[in-house]
Amino acid sequence: MKFSASLLCLALGSLALVAADAIEPVTVKGTKFFYKNGTQFFMRGVDYQPVKDKNNPDPLADGDGCKRDIAYFKQLNLNVIRVYEVQTTNNHDECMNALAAAGIYLLLDINTPKYSINRADPVYDTTLYQYGMAKVNMFSKYPNMLGFVGGNEVTNDKTNTNASAYVKAFIRDMKGVLAKNKVSLPVGYAANDDLDINTNLQAYFACGDETDRADFYGINIYRWCGSDTTFSDSGYDKVLADFTNYPVPVFFSEYGCITAGVRKFTEVQAIYGKEMTDTMSGGLVYEYSEEGNNYGLVKIDGNSVKTTEDFSNLKSEMAKINPKGVTESSYNPSSSDAATCPQVSKDWQASATLPPTPSQSACDCVSNTFTCALKSDDDSSVGEILGFICGKMDCGPISSNPYNGTYGVYSTCNATVKVNWALSAYAKSAKNSAEACDFNGSAQKVTASSDSDTECKTKTDTISSGDSSSSSSSSSSSSDAIVLSVPAFAQLASVFVASVGLYAAL
Ligand SMILES: *[C@@H]1O[C@H](CO)[C@@H](O)[C@H](O)[C@H]1NC(C)=O
Ligand SMILES: *[C@@H]1O[C@H](CO)[C@@H](O)[C@H](O)[C@H]1NC(C)=O
Ligand SMILES: *[C@@H]1O[C@H](CO)[C@@H](O)[C@H](O)[C@H]1NC(C)=O
Ligand SMILES: *[C@@H]1O[C@H](CO)[C@@H](O)[C@H](O)[C@H]1NC(C)=O
Ligand SMILES: *[C@@H]1O[C@H](CO)[C@@H](O)[C@H](O)[C@H]1NC(C)=O
Repeated sequence: MKFSASLLCLALGSLALVAADAIEPVTVKGTKFFYKNGTQFFMRGVDYQPVKDKNNPDPLADGDGCKRDIAYFKQLNLNVIRVYEVQTTNNHDECMNALAAAGIYLLLDINTPKYSINRADPVYDTTLYQYGMAKVNMFSKYPNMLGFVGGNEVTNDKTNTNASAYVKAFIRDMKGVLAKNKVSLPVGYAANDDLDINTNLQAYFACGDETDRADFYGINIYRWCGSDTTFSDSGYDKVLADFTNYPVPVFFSEYGCITAGVRKFTEVQAIYGKEMTDTMSGGLVYEYSEEGNNYGLVKIDGNSVKTTEDFSNLKSEMAKINPKGVTESSYNPSSSDAATCPQVSKDWQASATLPPTPSQSACDCVSNTFTCALKSDDDSSVGEILGFICGKMDCGPISSNPYNGTYGVYSTCNATVKVNWALSAYAKSAKNSAEACDFNGSAQKVTASSDSDTECKTKTDTISSGDSSSSSSSSSSSSDAIVLSVPAFAQLASVFVASVGLYAAL
């Protein structure tokens, strides 16, 4: 291994080059995304969720896999990936820095199967709020974050429209956390494409106060099937028409119909063509790797990647696009008027009045007033107990009614707090008799440390800052603002390490 002065220069030269080219944040203005230099940003993306470890799904924690795949992202001319699930217990620096060095941004879903709003039985509570807060704090430090998806296809047909009230409240609160920490990253929604609900769903996420609205609207769309399809028979024309006066950016958060066999991706020319780029901001193909549902552009086997015919077709279509857009300085959105909230009806059961921000302090406080509580947190008779008690007395404080927009003061506490509130209220109504706190042995009397919950009702939490839950070494955990110069420095440091590695290997 001969030491060479010119190679050292090369290594240092590339360090300087990368430092000068450090990725800049993309921002939203009106209905469009912009690079720092004022050029409009169109998403050229894929959805990225290769599953290496089913018990710990997190492609951004796999530095080697991520670097392997970036080579393919470059072939596809990508500037963004959407990742559905990562774990807050992992470190993501290596992958995020490698993506940044390749000019690729991240759109990240906040929810996971464990921490999400269940469309069939929607609840938004302290547990989900705290999880979301940790997630956005952990990722907002990366300069190549593009935004957060605060819900994916939660309301997906007319039977579960009320779930959107909880999703919108969650989005509002994640926006609040970012704003409090002075991070300007958008939090939006990704919708399915269901003709029964599209109109109301689109309006709902874009209506009301600016602080309550989704910052962007993604559509998971599978209408363009086969290479003979056209702009009008795919229905893209109608989708476009729905959004011409929409107040926030719109893009395809998933696209790529597979029902007509090998995908030719002729829709790419439509998505990045003038007709659509006036209104929309590009899209992401579902999905990078084959995961058993035939949507993969590549097949991953161990550490090797095999591209498919779909991949080659997408690559040649992506090579042809050149969306023009507008420059930020010449773009003065006439207004960002909110949409009108849909009327609550049988077909749309989510009021414009959203659930409150969950408050751990209020829930902790009311817990101190309980006189009767479950013996075990995971008692399976909770539903039955609540049904019994709330059939006999008013459970307003723990109830939530998205149809009428009424939410009890403890309705965002976790399930244990809610059932203990009911048990205690019931026991109290029976003068705390022993029989009133039994429920076939599920409940037992407990000692309250306070006998009034009056002061609990107005308790709100302070928003956590920084990313104390992060295992990352490049973050400052105590600062109250998430400062972008910290990761920029970290990125520089990692490039330096990479350069030294290169130089050592020569
Ligand atoms: C602005 O920045 C982007 C991303 O670095 C780049 O692709 C584009 O060419 C730049 N535009 C101008 C006008 O320099
Ligand atoms: C539910 O919330 C209470 C009080 O806020 C807390 O003490 C308890 O640990 C929580 N339980 C679960 C299972 O998260
Ligand atoms: C949401 O709507 C469904 C269907 O109408 C209903 O069964 C469910 O109880 C509602 N959930 C809430 C929290 O109101
Ligand atoms: C909404 O409130 C009204 C009046 O209190 C009540 O009659 C109705 O049942 C509520 N609707 C739902 C769906 O809970
Ligand atoms: C107690 O158990 C009996 C028999 O399993 C059941 O029918 C009843 O509903 C239970 N009572 C309560 C209050 O949970």
